[in-house]
Amino acid sequence: MADLTTEFARLRIDYAGQDLDERTVLSDPFAQFRTWLDQALASNLKEPNAMALATATREGIPSCRMVLLKGFDPRGFVFFTNYNSSKGLELHQNPQAAVTFYWAELERQVRIAGPVERVSPQESDDYFALRPPLARIGAAASPQSRVIPGRAWLEQSVESLQVLHPNGDIPRPADWGGYRLQPLSFEFWQGRPNRLHDRILYTRVASAWQLDRLSP
Ligand SMILES: Cc1cc2nc3c(=O)[nH]c(=O)nc-3n(C[C@H](O)[C@H](O)[C@H](O)COP(=O)(O)O)c2cc1C
Repeated sequence: MADLTTEFARLRIDYAGQDLDERTVLSDPFAQFRTWLDQALASNLKEPNAMALATATREGIPSCRMVLLKGFDPRGFVFFTNYNSSKGLELHQNPQAAVTFYWAELERQVRIAGPVERVSPQESDDYFALRPPLARIGAAASPQSRVIPGRAWLEQSVESLQVLHPNGDIPRPADWGGYRLQPLSFEFWQGRPNRLHDRILYTRVASAWQLDRLSP
């Protein structure tokens, strides 16, 4: 423990890159997110669309894992997964979620929260069709979050599907598809020197966005 404390103290960095000002941020948080995402994309970060997704059971027991953002528009933020996975079952019980993006090299974090709903079957079909054949087979072969006998079982499941669908043109499994998180809040965090970071919170109020600065 002591060793790690020293090691972590050595990692401490002072964020000094950029600032975030409530007078100059965009009034639409989707547009502000787009600006930051574009900058993350232009910075050649590895998977800038990766986000931590937090869900919780009906009783409020939380869990968190990474997923990839596959698109967003004023309706919300879309990711794809297995509807019968642990996250799928939690979203069925409790259709609320939060996502966090962390772009370390830009000293930025974005947190977004709100209710979640499934995208339309057509949207899931359209995205599934865009996936490479092996990714389609992989999605169909994996009973995500279930205990399986071993790696060989999974590989066998893939092989069986490859025999049935040699071109990979497998239909979308009914239990695989997209979710859309409809934001009720966005928080943009910009690292600043001496831990005096900038935090701008957008909260949905009626059909407008209220802007506030939060203490770091
Ligand atoms: C960078 C990264 C991206 C991921 N993207 C996805 C994704 O888009 N969809 C998905 O179902 N799982 C994705 N995963 C795997 C999940 O983190 C997780 O292991 C899986 O979805 C099962 O989670 P659950 O048991 O909580 O439902 C990703 C993992 C990493 C590390």
